[in-house]
Amino acid sequence: ERRVFSGIQPTGMPHFGNFAGALSNWARLSAEYRHEAYPPQQSDGPLAHPSQLYCIVDLHSLTVPRRPGAPTPAEQTRDMAIGILASGVRAHGYDGPAGPSNPDVVLFCQSHLHEHSELTWLLTCQTPMGMLRRMTQWKDKWQSMNKATTETENLGQGDPENLLAGLMMYPVLMAADVLAYRATEVPVGDDQRQHLELARELARMFNNSTKRTVFPPPRTVLPDLAPGAARLMSLRDPTRKMSKSDPAAGSRLMIDDSPEDLRRKIARAVTDSEMGVTYEPDRRPGIANLLSIMALCQNDLRTAADLAAGVVHTPESLARDLAHAGHAVLKQAVADALCARMAPVHEEVSRLRADPDLVDEILRMGAERARAIARETMVDARAALGMLERW
Ligand code: TYM
Repeated sequence: ERRVFSGIQPTGMPHFGNFAGALSNWARLSAEYRHEAYPPQQSDGPLAHPSQLYCIVDLHSLTVPRRPGAPTPAEQTRDMAIGILASGVRAHGYDGPAGPSNPDVVLFCQSHLHEHSELTWLLTCQTPMGMLRRMTQWKDKWQSMNKATTETENLGQGDPENLLAGLMMYPVLMAADVLAYRATEVPVGDDQRQHLELARELARMFNNSTKRTVFPPPRTVLPDLAPGAARLMSLRDPTRKMSKSDPAAGSRLMIDDSPEDLRRKIARAVTDSEMGVTYEPDRRPGIANLLSIMALCQNDLRTAADLAAGVVHTPESLARDLAHAGHAVLKQAVADALCARMAPVHEEVSRLRADPDLVDEILRMGAERARAIARETMVDARAALGMLERW
C-alpha cells in the first residue's frame, strides 16, 4: 500500500526552490482522492488513515540557534502552513481554490506528536556514528570550521567542537519522521537524497537486527517534468542552490512575492554573455535555471484541453521555441509565466493570513490523525525490540 510522507522546515514563507522541489509535487499528489477509503455513506464514522502526510518539522529547525529578534518558531510554523496550503496542497479541513478538503491528506506540525522524538531515540541506538559523520551536510560544516580555525581566519563560525549534537542527529530525526508512518514515497528536492538513503539504510538495519519487517524502504520521489526543478539555483549565482540562508534576498523568489518583485528579481537574474537561448545546465546554468522555472510554471498552467492533447513543456522544448530570443525577451517570458502561476498563490496567502484559527485547526486535526498512525508503528517497533508492553 502506498503512503506518502514529506517534511519542510518552518522558515516562514516557502521560497520558490521549496515550491519547485517539493510543494508543487505535494499539491499534485494531494489532488488524488481515495474514493474506496472514504465512502460517502460512512462520512460521520471514524476516518480511515490518510495515505498522504505533510509535516512542518519544527524540531529540525531547533538545530540552528535562533537569531535575536527573528520570528518565533510558532510564527514561522504558521506562516509555513499558510504557504503550503496556498501552494495548492489540499489538506483535510481546507477548502481552497485548488479544490475541496481531501480527507486522505493531512498537514501537521512535527513537535505536536511525541512519537517522532521517541522513534528517533530507538533509531539512534542502532545508528553507527560513522554513518552520521559521512553525511555530506555534516561533513562540509565540520570541515569548513576546522579549516577556518586552523587558518585562524575563523569566519565568525566558532570552534567545531561547539557544533550542536542536534545537527549531527538531524538525519536520524528525519529517518524517524518517514519511518513513523512507514512511508513508501517521499517527494523532495535533490538535496534530500542522501538523507533518504540513510533512512532506507536505518530501516533495513532495524528490520535485520530485530528479524521483523517493521519498516518498508521509503522511495525518493523527485519532480519529473523539469529536472532542474529538483535543484533550483540562486538567481544571483546559478552555481549555488536557491536557499533561505543566502543573505541576498534577490537570490530567491518567494511564493508570496508581488508580481513587481518577481519581475524585478527575474530581470536582474545573472545569466551569461552568449547570444540566444539553449538548454545546457553545465555550461549555461543561469539560462538553464530560468528555463526550468518557466517549464514548471507553464506545466502547472496547462488547461484540461492541453492535458488531453498531451502537451508537456520541458526546458529543452522552451529553449527550442526561444532559440533566437535575446536574454531580455527570455526573461520577459519567464516572468510572465511566473506571475501567471503565482497570482492565485499570492492571493490565497492573504486570505489565509486573515484566518489564523483555520490554520491552527487544520494543524490540530492533522496531528490527531497522524498520531493514530505513529502510535501503531511505535507499538510494533517496541515489540520488535522486545520491550515491555505499555498500557
Ligand atoms: P527543507 O526545509 O530545507 O526544504 C523543503 C523541501 O524543499 C526542497 N528544496 C529545494 N528543491 C529544489 N531547489 C531548491 N533550491 C530547494 N531548496 C529546498 C527540499 O529538497 C525539500 O524537499 N530535511 C528536510 C526536511 C525534512 C524532511 C523529513 C523531508 C525533515 N524530515 C522527512 C522529507 C522527509 C529539509 O530541511 O528540507
